[in-house]
Amino acid sequence: MVDVRLVGLVKRFGKTVALRGIDLDVRDGEFVVLLGPSGCGKTTTLRIVAGLEKPDEGHVFFGDREVTYLPPKDRNVSMVFQSYAVWPHMKVKDNIAFPLRIRKVPEDEVQRRVKWAAELLQIETLLERYPHQLSGGQRQRVAVARAIVIEPDVLLMDEPLSNLDALLRVKMRSELKKLQRRIGVTTIYVTHDQVEAMTMGDRIAVMNAGKIMQVGTPEDIYLRPANIFVGGFVGSPQMNFFDATVTEKDGKLILEGPGFSIPLMEDQVSVLKDYVGKTVIAGIRPEHMFPKDLAPPKLKGVEITGDIDFVEALGSDTIIHLRVGEKILVIKVSGSHHYKIGSKLTVVFDLSKLHVFRKDSGEAII
Ligand SMILES: Nc1ncnc2c1ncn2[C@@H]1O[C@H](COP(=O)(O)OP(=O)(O)OP(=O)(O)O)[C@@H](O)[C@H]1O
Ligand SMILES: [Mg+2]
Repeated sequence: MVDVRLVGLVKRFGKTVALRGIDLDVRDGEFVVLLGPSGCGKTTTLRIVAGLEKPDEGHVFFGDREVTYLPPKDRNVSMVFQSYAVWPHMKVKDNIAFPLRIRKVPEDEVQRRVKWAAELLQIETLLERYPHQLSGGQRQRVAVARAIVIEPDVLLMDEPLSNLDALLRVKMRSELKKLQRRIGVTTIYVTHDQVEAMTMGDRIAVMNAGKIMQVGTPEDIYLRPANIFVGGFVGSPQMNFFDATVTEKDGKLILEGPGFSIPLMEDQVSVLKDYVGKTVIAGIRPEHMFPKDLAPPKLKGVEITGDIDFVEALGSDTIIHLRVGEKILVIKVSGSHHYKIGSKLTVVFDLSKLHVFRKDSGEAII
């Protein structure tokens, strides 16, 4: 087991700059998720850790050992890909044994380890089958068994569940996470699915356009997004954003925008007083706004009234789209409720959950 340290990774493919300086520390035994939109550089980062790609600049360390230019076979890493790359002409047991046989592990040890990995993945009964006789989920288990059978120092997984149906994906998420806990292998897991990231990661590194935008626990990322990108990328439905001007009125600070005026709380005032007269971007999550009759009684909130534009009844939740002036605010209410499109609704939002970002850089102020 090792910790993994990425320092200043830059990678170009011709004119495309895939990575623009990636720094990341993954602790020994930790499960870190790289989360970000398509093309942001997740796979490239993983391939550099695996040794399948060389960076143009920067370094990769496993513990104290620099491995940047070592070939994959000298790193003791395993990688699981999105497409279950299992050998079609080999039985399951031979697929799992394959990485051991190319390492010339003695045959009795091969048998022992294949049994161990198959038990962990609960595929002992499938060992005599060929891949075409397996379901997608079973094939992916074989791929994971084959990855862990060498007892790698670092396990890399690139969207390993995205070919599975929704139910199986949820099941495999918790299974993979439990498996990782059990064997304690340092893991970097790539996904663009934020729910997967939130439920699996000890920490999440949110990436965009070849950069890491924030690294933190799922709670950090959700409650304290470091910038607009992270605030908007994590959370569903997306955080509501609106332009507002920080204004001083009767010695008090307010956030003023078209159709609303938000008095600020004491701790918010102390941070925002340098921004008087400036435009900022305010953000509030859909789940931190409540129709007035459903708001928690002691909520220190602000009321906004608008017209109901659209309602999504999801059963467990109701999503209301509320038109306020030119803006649509999205509100998530738990439970099933009836709202009439076109009618007026007053919502209260939880002032303590307000985010404020700089308009120029997008960095979080609050
Ligand atoms: N071999 C390559 N040749 C040229 N460009 C590449 C190559 N590999 C990746 N890129 C480019 O580098 C950027 C990052 O790609 P990468 O595959 O790392 O993204 P990703 O975050 O894994 O995306 P996805 O979620 O779609 O898998 C993209 O713009 C991609 O087009
Ligand atoms: Mg990818």
